[in-house]
Amino acid sequence: MTSVRITSSALGQSQLVGRQIARAAIPTFCSSSQTSFHKLSPTSSSTFSINSRRPGSAAAPFSTTTAARMRDVFPARETEHIRQTPAAWPHHGYTEAEMLAVVPGHRAPETIGDRIAWRLMRICRWGMDTATGMSRDQKSDKKNPTTAIASEQPLTEAQWMTRFIFLESIAGVPGMVAGMLRHLHSIRRLKRDNGWIESLLEESYNERMHLLTFMKMCEPGWFMKLMILGAQGVYFNAMFFSYLLSPRVCHRFVGYLEEEAVHTYTRCLAEIEAGQTPAWTDPKFQVPEIAIRYWNMPEDKRTMRDLILYIRADEAGHRGVNHTLGNLDQKSDPNPFVSEYKSGREPPKPLARPAGYERNEVM
Ligand SMILES: [Fe+2]
Ligand SMILES: [Fe+2]
Repeated sequence: MTSVRITSSALGQSQLVGRQIARAAIPTFCSSSQTSFHKLSPTSSSTFSINSRRPGSAAAPFSTTTAARMRDVFPARETEHIRQTPAAWPHHGYTEAEMLAVVPGHRAPETIGDRIAWRLMRICRWGMDTATGMSRDQKSDKKNPTTAIASEQPLTEAQWMTRFIFLESIAGVPGMVAGMLRHLHSIRRLKRDNGWIESLLEESYNERMHLLTFMKMCEPGWFMKLMILGAQGVYFNAMFFSYLLSPRVCHRFVGYLEEEAVHTYTRCLAEIEAGQTPAWTDPKFQVPEIAIRYWNMPEDKRTMRDLILYIRADEAGHRGVNHTLGNLDQKSDPNPFVSEYKSGREPPKPLARPAGYERNEVM
């Protein structure tokens, strides 16, 4: 297992503070994990290695509960008559070629609103890097933050998991806020919405499935719970008022958030494929049942790599959809992704367009 070696002299003061926050956070982020994570770190020894065992402690911070003792974070409730409750929005599925064709991308900011959204996202990315406890060696090229995936050192599974949960707990909010506000607007103004509400609510549902999948692999500690509270208490309200003020900027912001998501999952895939996440390439590793059911994952395609391919494709879809919605007339344009075209052409394909479609291409 590659350990992350960092010395005090190699770090600036602010990085040290960030690392200390992350070190404090990660043990409480995940207080247990799946069986295969228990293969982590017995040989790690570096001073700041997130996966290292602390002297005198019973277990590595990322994995403090044996698989047998791990409780299901949200077990299905047994009732007398119900066998199971399938997904209300069944996943539409992807071909393997579609998933493999996803690439990181960036839409250059053009308007003042774009620049505000992009700046805000840079601040969120800083928070995400800090929460992940990324060292200088683990960072990719800062000049191309959403497209460069190469770095000197890989992230550990614990760092990836922190990053995924940080990202997904934020990503599930905007679609619900936007869908709710557009729903209320439609009722209040007695006007049709033309297909936006359903796509936005489905997006937030899909993001929640990402979060629930990762929660099945990582029992939440106090820091994670605090962050989820923060996402609901602060981020929901901020998004609510922002969407009332400028839905266009909010869609652009979500487009940039999704660029980050595609970047994160692409880099993770590269590190899985390079054998740098041994817990996830262990033959005993199993993706959670909730994920197998939701994405209808074929029996021979249930590795962590397969799961990340599905999730990355979802994020690429959100990226293309939100950048496109940010280009449309918010009051009157229909949602092109669920529309039938007069010419009989297919609706636009958001996966293939990292920067979204311009209005004149789809209206
Ligand atoms: Fe997501
Ligand atoms: Fe997303």
